[in-house]
Amino acid sequence: MTQAPGAEEHDLVLVVDFGAQYAQLIARRVREAKVYSEIVPHSMPVEEMLAKNPKAIILSGGPSSVYAEDAPAIDNALFTAGTPVFGMCYGFQLMAQGLGGTVDDNGAREYGRTPVTVGVSGTLLKDIPPAHNVWMSHGDSVSEAPEGFTVLASTADTPVAAFENVEKQLAGVQWHPEVLHSEHGQKVLEHFLWDIAGARQTWTIGNIAEDQIERVREQIGDHRAICALSGGVDSAVAAAIVAKAIGDRLTCVYVDHGLMRKNESVAIEKAFRESTGAELKIVDAEKEFLDALAGVTDPEEKRKIIGREFIRCFERAEVEILGDSDEKVAFLVQGTLYPDVVESGGGAGTSNIKSHHNVGGLPEDLEFELVEPLRELFKDEVRAVGSQLGLPDEIVQRQPFPGPGLGIRIIGEVTKERLDILREADAIAREEMTLAGLDRDIWQMPVVLLADVRSVGVQGDGRTYGHPVVLRPVTSEDAMTADWARLPYEVMERISTRITNEVSEINRVTVDITSKPPGTIEWE
Ligand code: XMP
Repeated sequence: MTQAPGAEEHDLVLVVDFGAQYAQLIARRVREAKVYSEIVPHSMPVEEMLAKNPKAIILSGGPSSVYAEDAPAIDNALFTAGTPVFGMCYGFQLMAQGLGGTVDDNGAREYGRTPVTVGVSGTLLKDIPPAHNVWMSHGDSVSEAPEGFTVLASTADTPVAAFENVEKQLAGVQWHPEVLHSEHGQKVLEHFLWDIAGARQTWTIGNIAEDQIERVREQIGDHRAICALSGGVDSAVAAAIVAKAIGDRLTCVYVDHGLMRKNESVAIEKAFRESTGAELKIVDAEKEFLDALAGVTDPEEKRKIIGREFIRCFERAEVEILGDSDEKVAFLVQGTLYPDVVESGGGAGTSNIKSHHNVGGLPEDLEFELVEPLRELFKDEVRAVGSQLGLPDEIVQRQPFPGPGLGIRIIGEVTKERLDILREADAIAREEMTLAGLDRDIWQMPVVLLADVRSVGVQGDGRTYGHPVVLRPVTSEDAMTADWARLPYEVMERISTRITNEVSEINRVTVDITSKPPGTIEWE
């Protein structure tokens, strides 16, 4: 992967991924310590790592035993190359083994919160209390440190739980300093980065934004670019960066598919226009989407139709933006994030995509070059950059909302009437959540309309025969897994009372108490 823009101004730390889920978290923590970091696979040859000229290399934890037959290894040349190395958990054991220490399976296993005793603070554990708790996850243990290393800490079962050789700029810990349950973990990491490796603290939000703007300016030159805004954080921040770089040569397109929540499209337009001043073209496509969705109940079918209609609308907007001019809109802005890049196997530089035309008017061979100003950034960095560029909280702190919108929150056929019912119920639920101050605690709370279900109720003097809605409040870290959120009873009560009073077609409010897995967050 290429280095970040202006990377020569930032020190680079490589996080070598040994296949556990921790590498991304480590990379984020390094950046929180204001040092730029990138993740590389353990299969990358050491010369290739060193060729990136890293200021330091961190070996992550991993699921294996260093003695297992297929255990991922690392070339010992890494430890004598003169580049500072920090090992964590599995990486710590690899380091111990590679430098001539002893790792063995003494039968002891430590998982979860474990008390650790600091014997000698050294540089790595300076100012850290002699007794504190850390997060462990290992079977094998280091029983003897390599020659020249100072043993800093131990636990009941692990005689060597941390070591350092400051002169050689090598250090390691048996625990996971990157997880929040490890007390003082960030401080340990900072001691390594700042005091042992001598990395400079330049990776700050102001710098990130400026770097990205400068790079986009270089990439696009005096051409024009186009960006599809979804209303979500990523596309808005990507667009804001590009708008700062090339001004009105960027045109944003917002396809209003009629499946957004109450007043949402208007709010997004207003907030985006006011904060970026970018050129924004609104495509009102509600009728087309609803016509295309008529009679469709299958969730996948709905998604396909919505995706297809979106591309059609976007391409038509492109034709209009190009007008009669000979100039090509050669750049397409996308809000790809660093985790997407890592998960799809990394890859350097920018890629070209061919526009697939369903409508006439565009030159057959028009190729877009992608502009992806968020490719090196984690979500929390994207939010911070967005705020720095003046985007309001309603955009940068927005909870996730699916591209197909309320189309996949109506179980049954999607019609204008049903959308309006759901919009009213959803607006009440959102309003009450905000009033209760729960927006930051809850990952998201879909409200789902069971449009084909009716149940009997009684209201005033009369019998009702209305629809149920389901509240689906969840907590999550990354949407891959989720738990149902324990909403306070009073909040549920207010939401239920208001929805059944104010939305005449709804006579029951239920709460989904299923975790993910086995349930998904959305119902379709
Ligand atoms: P599930 O339902 O799979 O959702 O647990 C995980 C996260 O993804 C969102 N989601 C979508 N986002 N297009 C999107 O842009 C989709 O088709 C889609 N389906 C689910 C969902 O809101 C949750 O945050």
